Amino acid sequence: MSENKKKVAVIGYGGMGGWHTRHFSDSDCVELAGIWDINESRCELAESRGIHAYSSLEELLGDASVELVTIATPNDYHKPLAIEAMKAGKNVISEKPVTLNSSDLEEMIAASKKYGKLFTTHQNRRWDADYIIMRYLYKKGELGQVFTVESRVQGSRGIPGDWRGQKAHGGGMILDWGVHLIDQMVGIIYDRKITGVYCRCDHITNAEVDDGFRLDLYFERGVTARIEVGTNHFVSLARYYMVGTSGAAVIQDWHSPCREVLCTEWNEENVVPVVTAAGLTKTMAPRDAKTTEERIIERPVTDVHDFYRNVCRAIDGKENQLITHDQLRRSMKIMEAAFESDRLGAPVKFEDIDAPRVN
Ligand SMILES: NC(=O)c1ccc[n+]([C@@H]2O[C@H](COP(=O)([O-])OP(=O)(O)OC[C@H]3O[C@@H](n4cnc5c(N)ncnc54)[C@H](O)[C@@H]3O)[C@@H](O)[C@H]2O)c1
Repeated sequence: MSENKKKVAVIGYGGMGGWHTRHFSDSDCVELAGIWDINESRCELAESRGIHAYSSLEELLGDASVELVTIATPNDYHKPLAIEAMKAGKNVISEKPVTLNSSDLEEMIAASKKYGKLFTTHQNRRWDADYIIMRYLYKKGELGQVFTVESRVQGSRGIPGDWRGQKAHGGGMILDWGVHLIDQMVGIIYDRKITGVYCRCDHITNAEVDDGFRLDLYFERGVTARIEVGTNHFVSLARYYMVGTSGAAVIQDWHSPCREVLCTEWNEENVVPVVTAAGLTKTMAPRDAKTTEERIIERPVTDVHDFYRNVCRAIDGKENQLITHDQLRRSMKIMEAAFESDRLGAPVKFEDIDAPRVN
């Protein structure tokens, strides 16, 4: 199998560059040729771990045995490095977010066409088990007509103190986590266009970039999605929550299974009210097992190696790339609409021309 593996070089040997190189060691489709980092001490660290470090970007791009380059630098370097690598004849994976805005992205897509090279982005959270369960539930229609989907990640340590806190480097949580959660949300609500976007950003620990946000996406025919990222949250709400006309589902955290509650009988007899200090409520009283059924959906096993497998097969013309240019365009425009909405303090209309056609 080894002789069929594609050689990949990694630009930027920080946290994520290290993750990629570690994953290559048990990959069945790619093998590491080497890394290059602008910071010499990172190259020395790689060498101390037995990884070849190129002496320069030019040397890396000049290595004819390298077919694929993965870019794992701060976000503002994705565009120039991707274009340079494609110009040098390499297929390119850019880390997420693909770049900082739509016009940069169009330049990258144009370079991919001009040089005839594959260009995609590492949207690895397509393999998250919680996302896969939510996508399955929406598509299956078991909860009836879904009208609300909520997706959250909430930490309590502020935004990291590195380039992620700086606007010039493409810092901020919309570009960091937002890009993953938007990609997942449009993967779940796959069958309708977005008509409006409303976003409010937080600046609790960082004035320069958003260190959290609440983003509402209004889809056609009454479906609303909320995406929330926080970095100053000492209690976290559920990772995923979905509500339909005949059921609801919740995934509490990173490791828990999905709890699904389905309504088996709409009409109830003798509802027992909840007694609160201010009075009784039947409307808000929880249902019991007489009219609902509860199920647990275990988390599916997923394999993140499938990302590189797809890239390799796409380079060989054996399948289409999973993370497409249209999808990257759509997520980028949603993020731009989110920034615009936050600036205006109001919802903005969204013309969803990159939404996939669904029969
Ligand atoms: N897909 C994911 O789940 C995921 C997770 C974390 C980070 N990321 C992405 O990976 C990228 C890197 O993030 P990180 O956490 O590894 O950051 P990091 O700061 O840990 O590492 C970045 C590395 O890039 C190097 N670098 C900076 N400018 C460079 C240049 N012009 N040329 C070559 N090397 C350069 C730095 O010296 C550093 O070693 C970002 O785009 C980030 O959004 C993706």
